[in-house]
Amino acid sequence: MEKSLDVAVVGTGYVGLITGVLFADMGHNVICADVDKNKINALQNGDLPIYEEGLDAIFQEVHADGRISFTTSTARAVQECTVIFIAVGTPSTPSGAPDLSGVAAAARDIANNLDDYRVIVEKSTVPVQTGEQVKTTIERYADTDVNFDVVSNPEFLAEGSALQDARNPDRIVLGVNSDRAEKIMRDLYQPIDAPMIVTDLSSAELIKHASNSFLAMKISYINAISRICDLSGANVDEVAKGMGMDARIADSFLNAGVGYGGSCFPKDVDAFYRISEDLGYSFDLLKEVQRINREQRKRLMKYIEKELWVLSDKKIGILGLSFKPGTDDIRRAPSIYLIEELLDRGCQVSAYDPKAIDNVRDKFGSKITYGESTEQIAEDADCLVLLTEWEEFQSLDFDHLKQKMVHPIFIDGRNIYDPEKMEQKGWTYRSVGRPVIQNE
Ligand code: UGA
Repeated sequence: MEKSLDVAVVGTGYVGLITGVLFADMGHNVICADVDKNKINALQNGDLPIYEEGLDAIFQEVHADGRISFTTSTARAVQECTVIFIAVGTPSTPSGAPDLSGVAAAARDIANNLDDYRVIVEKSTVPVQTGEQVKTTIERYADTDVNFDVVSNPEFLAEGSALQDARNPDRIVLGVNSDRAEKIMRDLYQPIDAPMIVTDLSSAELIKHASNSFLAMKISYINAISRICDLSGANVDEVAKGMGMDARIADSFLNAGVGYGGSCFPKDVDAFYRISEDLGYSFDLLKEVQRINREQRKRLMKYIEKELWVLSDKKIGILGLSFKPGTDDIRRAPSIYLIEELLDRGCQVSAYDPKAIDNVRDKFGSKITYGESTEQIAEDADCLVLLTEWEEFQSLDFDHLKQKMVHPIFIDGRNIYDPEKMEQKGWTYRSVGRPVIQNE
């Protein structure tokens, strides 16, 4: 690498940690700052509080090499680094608007410790025009003669494939108003071979919300189509395949299923609707995207009811709890909604996930039981419901599982099995927008 830079990352959540570890891996010197002492202590001891495939190995390497360090002192991070990323959380408020108090606090903290030129970069997903507010806040709290630039550099990592996404991004977005800051940001990303789009601050901020909302819309669109497939007898797989072959549509994010979850799409669609409304535009399309998404979870409940009729005392096995494979994240996961609904109806729920069991146990405790394998979950179950398409669920031994269950009923919330094959195996099988197989 031509030039290594001193980089601070304020906020050690999912985005902050991955950003920090990856910049260290690129050869930069990174200081991660957080107000949470316990978290910083754990990180100093080499404990990564998040699970992301492949991340721990890189973290251990850069940590051992001293390329990444951790502090509770934003002052130290600001004083020692040229580029300062703000990667604090922006949780949803009850209205759906993001809570920006963490961003504001970070901006003030940075301002109070600014003693020389710095590039301050928004990494957290924030509403359009937040960059302007950050700039005003820093101007207000910093010494008047200190020079700085604010840059928007949104993150496009997806959980479970974050390393791959970060090393081979489709694009790097830079919202920047000064040549000096642009040059530093280009140096920072020099090891990454990816197209770079340089815009004004507001456009970069919008690119992030507009992209996530568009992807959520694509998922809701195919889910709406899957409903029409259910009603008309068509097969959503075939429809999605035919649509996706049009290069203008493309085939990704056309998997119908139980709907999107996670910490990004639900929150960002909500936030984008609110921001647009505040700006004077009622973005009702996004309301419909959310409505369709909520409906998907209810549809799955209906499928279960159609097969089992009265649900009380039925034993339901849930396969997959994280909102997607490759992560232990259960935030706004469809599994949480389904488990709550099933408990409300008096079901006995047993659940299994390769990574997310501990998080679900923290939430539901002894209200449900937990298995260590699909086989355990299937024992005496009336029905299996698949909610996350983990690799190990893609090749289940249906002949064996059938022996364990009260009824061989499989509800596939991710459309990973072939209905015809399930028919041959003697299972009753329901998936989303595809033929129903009745085998009893
Ligand atoms: C998403 C975006 O894909 C990233 O580009 C973005 O950086 C990130 O949000 C963010 O804002 O931080 P993520 O939420 O981690 O990433 O995961 P996705 O792979 O996008 O999946 C989101 C949800 O959509 C999952 O529940 C997944 O199961 C669901 N999904 C995805 C479908 O139901 N159908 C599909 O065809 C694709």
